[in-house]
This record gives sequence, C-alpha cells and structure tokens, in this order.
Amino acid sequence: MGTLPRVDGERMREDFEALSRIGATAEGGVSRPTFSDAHFAAREWFLTRARAAGLDTQVDAAGNHSAVLRVQLHRHARVLLLGSHLDSVPGGGRYDGAMGVVAALHVLLALKDAGTDLPFGVEAIDFTDEEGTLLGLLGSEALAGSLSAESLHAPRGGRDALLAGLARAGLSEARLLEARRDPQTLAGYLELHIEQGPRLEREGVRIGVVTTIVGSRSFRLVLHGAGGHAGGLPMDVRRDAAVAAARLILSVQDIVVHDFPGAVATVGDVRVEPGAFNVVPGVARLALEFRSHDDGELDAIESAVLGRARADAEANGIELAVTPVARWQPTRLDPRVSDKIERAAVDLGLTTKRLASFAGHDAQALAPVTASGMIFVPSVGGVSHDPREHTAWDDVVNGANVLLRTVERLASPS
Ligand code: GLV
Ligand code: MN
Ligand code: MN
Repeated sequence: MGTLPRVDGERMREDFEALSRIGATAEGGVSRPTFSDAHFAAREWFLTRARAAGLDTQVDAAGNHSAVLRVQLHRHARVLLLGSHLDSVPGGGRYDGAMGVVAALHVLLALKDAGTDLPFGVEAIDFTDEEGTLLGLLGSEALAGSLSAESLHAPRGGRDALLAGLARAGLSEARLLEARRDPQTLAGYLELHIEQGPRLEREGVRIGVVTTIVGSRSFRLVLHGAGGHAGGLPMDVRRDAAVAAARLILSVQDIVVHDFPGAVATVGDVRVEPGAFNVVPGVARLALEFRSHDDGELDAIESAVLGRARADAEANGIELAVTPVARWQPTRLDPRVSDKIERAAVDLGLTTKRLASFAGHDAQALAPVTASGMIFVPSVGGVSHDPREHTAWDDVVNGANVLLRTVERLASPS
C-alpha cells in the first residue's frame, strides 16, 4: 500500500495545547461547564481556528459548532459527521471530548491538504452539553431528533439553569428542535475519544473499537428526617438525614458489587441541610446514577436499589422522595463501521481490541439515526473526569490517523 495521508501531529499538538489553556485549572485539567465563559471561549477558538484554515463554519439551533469540508460539485452530497464535545465536567481533564474535536478538525485539514476526492462532505462537530451540566447529550439528541420535551422540562441541572444557559448562549428553547437533521442527509458518525478506563493500557493495545455504549439511569433522592440540637438530641431518638444518606450510599455499593458485578453505581453528590457542626441534619439530597450494558439489568438494579432505600427509610422514620432525572438506553454501534475502523487501524499497523464503553458519548444519540462508530485510545491509569486525565501524544496521533483512515475506508465501496 502506498503512503497513506496522515494528520500533522505537531500542528495538532499546538492546537490541542492552545485549547487546553482555555478554562485551565491549577490542578492541570480544565473546567468548562456548558455555557460557562471558558466553554464559550473554547467554542470560539474552534471556529476561529477552522476559519483560519479555510474551512466553512456553522452553528445550529442547538448551538452545535461545526467546521465543514464541502465536496466540490456535489452541493447535495450527504455529510459524514466527526464529533465530540468541548464542554467538560467541573474540574475535568483536558482530553475528554476536546481531543476528539481537535482530531476531527485535523482530519478535515489533512483531507483538504491531500485534495482527497470524497463522495460525502465531512463535518467536524462540537456538540452542545454532552457532559450534562444542563441536560446531557443536548446537542447530539437535538441533531438526531430525539431531544424530548419531557427532558427539557426536568433537566438534570434544573430548569432554571437550562433556561439561563440557553439565554446566555443566545439560544431559544422553542427552536432547539430545529437542529434536527434528516437522516438522509447523513453519511454516518465517527467519534474519537479517550477510553476513560484501564483496559487498553493494561493489555498494551493501541486502538479500541467500541461495540456498545452503556445505558444509564439517574435519580435525585431526598431524605427527610428531623433536625435538632447536636448536643441536646439523644442518639436513640434521632432521625438523622446524614446517617440515612450514609446507609443508602453503602447499600447501593453493596447491592451492585454483590448482585450486579457487570454494572457500576455512583452517588456523585450529597448535600445535607442545614450543614453545621452543631445541627443534626434534617434533610439530605443525593444524586444517584447507575450504568449497565443490559436494559433488563438496569430495571433489576433500579428495583433492588430503590426497594432497599425505601425499606431502610421506613425502618428508620425517614421520608424518601425519588425523582427520575435521566434515562439512556444501552446502544449498539454499527458493526460495519466497527469493521472499517478495525481495518483502518490494521492499515496503520496498530493493534486493536473490541470493547464496550462504560462512559456515555454523543455517539449513542447518533447511532439510532445514522451508521455510527467510535475509536478509543488508551487513558493513562484509566483516569478520567479528573485533572490527572492523560493520554500519550503518540496515542492521540494514532487515534486521529485511524479516524482519517476510517473516513477514507467509508468513502471507498469495498
Ligand atoms: C460522560 O462522560 C459520562 O459518561 O457521564
Ligand atoms: Mn466525553
Ligand atoms: Mn465526560
């Protein structure tokens, strides 16, 4: 095989580092929650960089930001999307989402420089609010046409935060659904992402080919006990909401570890009220989510965990209120696209492993409407959603080249 086009790894590194300075934290990561100043600045950086390279840019009604390489002579050609996200969790790492967007941009640049003849346009897209500061997968679900009025009315960041964020971004809730694209206009979706787990590193494999994306359910739980004086209230009559929260957290851990070893569950936020050394907490608020690759298992975890929480609350004189927040189905990616990714990696002499993703991704919104695939590269120590998140630069370049080669393979009939 002749020399294959490659991304310019050095130029991509300069861009990645410039982007990593936007919203940089003292701990070495980034904090770019959706529609924060840092998030806006990162998105502006992306459009400016794309325009400087001679690409067209566009922003849709859900605020998704794109750079587009159009195909000459075929004004109505379909478009292949290469995406990820520039928002981050609070105190997150530099690679989650951002690496995929920068790599997508550099794939467009490499295709443009090589003058590659393609049967479809190629679009590098930065989806709005993947991480769920406001809602989760907001931009990708809007584009796929699956954004629901229900989720907009009870978003996981709260309705007020959603409306204030949309206003800050100059977006209108009523128009979000206009971001939907007719699936007939799409040639597919590819996403390069860090693994966010330790499997590739452990096995010394360079490229992960993602087969399925985990399903998840999240709930807000409020435990109402009774407040009181931390000195005056005897231990045997207390209805301490913090103790009830601790019991609940340990029972979630116990149930999932013992009865659902293929699943994961997290209580990622706990607040007790009023919150003082000398007041027994009367109220505790918890954020619970669990994930599995099997929808039936999600049902079983939900009934086991909430059933135990209700029984424990009742036994201890605590009232429990449960509000469902988000629900994502396990999603299978397109096996034909996975084959193309695998062959692209082999073309480049890279080892591969098929694996399931335990993190959520924009690809799960796109998969039901267009042929979708994901490429993973190793995460050092498996660490993610943390400032220590790191991927060796050679692996980033490998991932970008596999993305580029997969585009070429999708463009050819065989
Ligand atoms: C997104 O990163 C998620 O899996 O929560
Ligand atoms: Mn991500
Ligand atoms: Mn993430």
